[in-house]
Amino acid sequence: MNRERIVAIVNRKGGSGKSTTALNLGGALAELGMRVLVVDLDPQASLTRLLTDRTVECGVGTCISAPGQPAADLIQGTAAGIDLLPGDRSIEAAALALSDSPSGFLRLRRVLAPLEGYDVLLLDTPPALGFALSSAVLAAGWAILPTASTQQDIDALLDTMMAMDELEVDEMVCARRLAIVPNAVHRDRPDRGGLEALRSAYGELVAEAVPHSAAIKRALNRHLPLARTEPGAKAMAAYRALARRVKLAAEGSYGGVLSAAGA
Ligand SMILES: Nc1ncnc2c1ncn2[C@@H]1O[C@H](COP(=O)(O)OP(=O)(O)OP(=O)(O)O)[C@@H](O)[C@H]1O
Ligand SMILES: [Mg+2]
Repeated sequence: MNRERIVAIVNRKGGSGKSTTALNLGGALAELGMRVLVVDLDPQASLTRLLTDRTVECGVGTCISAPGQPAADLIQGTAAGIDLLPGDRSIEAAALALSDSPSGFLRLRRVLAPLEGYDVLLLDTPPALGFALSSAVLAAGWAILPTASTQQDIDALLDTMMAMDELEVDEMVCARRLAIVPNAVHRDRPDRGGLEALRSAYGELVAEAVPHSAAIKRALNRHLPLARTEPGAKAMAAYRALARRVKLAAEGSYGGVLSAAGA
C-alpha cells in the first residue's frame, strides 16, 4: 500500500470531529467509486462502534504487537459500504510493549503495507499526542485535521501540527498536511470569526467547512455515513469537496496547497 493512499485524521483535541470525518469522508469516497478501508487506532473504539454497533475482541493493536498477525485477517465489511480494520484497547498494550523500542512508531506502517485492494486508507486516531498519533502520521502520506473554531480549538490544532513537525526533526518521514477541516460550524458570529482566523492563518489548506448538522447526527445514530442516509443534505457538499481533494492526493496529482501546507 503506497503511503500517498494513506490519510491520517488527527487532532489532539477530543470531540473535534475526527471519527465523524472518517465515517463521512469514507462515505463520500465510496460515492466516487473508491474502495475505502478505515482503520480505528483509538482505544475508545468509537469508529468501530459507529460502523458495527459492536466492539471486537481483536483489534489493530494486536497486529502492531505481533508482527506475524496479518491485518487482513481482522478486516470486516460494513453496511456503510466501506471496510473496517477495527480498534480496541490492544493499541494501548502495543504502546506499552513498544515504549522502549525506537522503531515502535514504524510498526503500523509495516502492518498496513501488505494490504491490497483499497484505493484509500483512512486512519482514525485518539485525542492525544502519543503512540497512535505518531504511528499514524508516520504510516500516512497525508494528514487531515478536523477542528472546531474557538481559540482553544485553534491552539490545540497548532499543538498537533507542532507534534508532527517534531517527528520530522527526528528525521522520520511524516504525513504532509492535506486539509484542515472546520467542523460543526454554526452560523453565528463567534464561529464565523473562528473560520476567518483559520483561513487567514492557513489559507487554502483550510477546506470547505462542515456545518453543525442535524442530518450528520441522524446518520451517526443510524451507524451510516451521510452519503447513505441523506445524500442530498447540505453538509455533503463539504465532504464531497474533501473527497475530491483526497482522491487527487491518493492518485499523486494533488498540487493545490502544498506550499501553504509547509510540505
Ligand atoms: N458536523 C457535525 N454536526 C453535528 N454534530 C457533530 C458534527 N461533528 C461531530 N458532531 C458531534 O460531535 C461528537 C464528537 O465528534 P467525533 O466523535 O467525530 O469527534 P472525535 O474528534 O472523533 O472525538 P474523540 O477525540 O473523542 O475521538 C459526535 O458524536 C457528534 O455527536
Ligand atoms: Mg474519535
